[in-house]
Amino acid sequence: MTPIIDVRNIRKSFGGLTVIDDCSIQVAEGSVTGMIGPNGAGKSTLFNIIAGSLMPDSGEVLLDGKPITHLTANQRFHQGLLRTFQIAHEFSHLTALENLMMVPPSQEGENLFSTWLKPGEVRRQEAEVRRRALEVLDFVGLSHVRNELAGNLSGGQKKLLELGRTMMTDARVVLLDEIAAGVNRTLLGDLMGNIERLNRELGYTFLVIEHDMDMIARLCDPVIVLAQGQVMMEGSITEIQNNPEVIEAYFGAEPA
Ligand SMILES: Nc1ncnc2c1ncn2[C@@H]1O[C@H](COP(=O)(O)OP(=O)(O)O)[C@@H](O)[C@H]1O
Ligand SMILES: [Mg+2]
Repeated sequence: MTPIIDVRNIRKSFGGLTVIDDCSIQVAEGSVTGMIGPNGAGKSTLFNIIAGSLMPDSGEVLLDGKPITHLTANQRFHQGLLRTFQIAHEFSHLTALENLMMVPPSQEGENLFSTWLKPGEVRRQEAEVRRRALEVLDFVGLSHVRNELAGNLSGGQKKLLELGRTMMTDARVVLLDEIAAGVNRTLLGDLMGNIERLNRELGYTFLVIEHDMDMIARLCDPVIVLAQGQVMMEGSITEIQNNPEVIEAYFGAEPA
């Protein structure tokens, strides 16, 4: 089966320092694929190349078997490939509900001309967006803070809101880069539950970079180990945790 994301022979250097070194990975549609590796392994760089916010020196990224390497991050977003972003500073003074209503639709987009011609249609669309935003808030468990300013939410609630933003689009593949950092245990449980539901119920594919091994173990199969810009190993979390080479290079300790 064609992988939903196919990364082929990517190379990327920064000022002579090779960060991604002929790296190829595949992400199967419908999977929650994990990515782990030591600090500086190149995980975030690879994510940026997949999302389109960074151009590789060479190599290709394919979505559904079609090259997207030449597309901007925005164009990839419109094809349903997106990464979550921290709530931007300028949105912190908007409520949680307003933040969701601000997300641009991924397929149709605003058409100014039709807006001019059909004001009734615009009102209908706004009502629809509001209805969907309320549903999303309910799904991610933030209904009770819908009228709170985003800036006043806790770290974990902000992460849930960021995940909720992907549901305002027609997301197919969502890239998550260390979203568990600084999130308390209760909200982390909510976050993981939501990722599982989005995967199972809405068919989202996830690629997840995470330091938190409990989270990787619960959510991800397979897991890719990246080290020095190359894939060191791919397998189930059990296989990875029992591989002597990985333990040596990454965990730097005896198997548990
Ligand atoms: N924009 C950049 N300019 C120069 N060096 C960078 C840049 N982005 C990342 N790097 C370097 O690339 C390496 C990999 O970084 P990164 O992809 O962030 O690793 P990881 O996410 O696995 O911790 C690091 O040595 C980092 O310093
Ligand atoms: Mg990183």
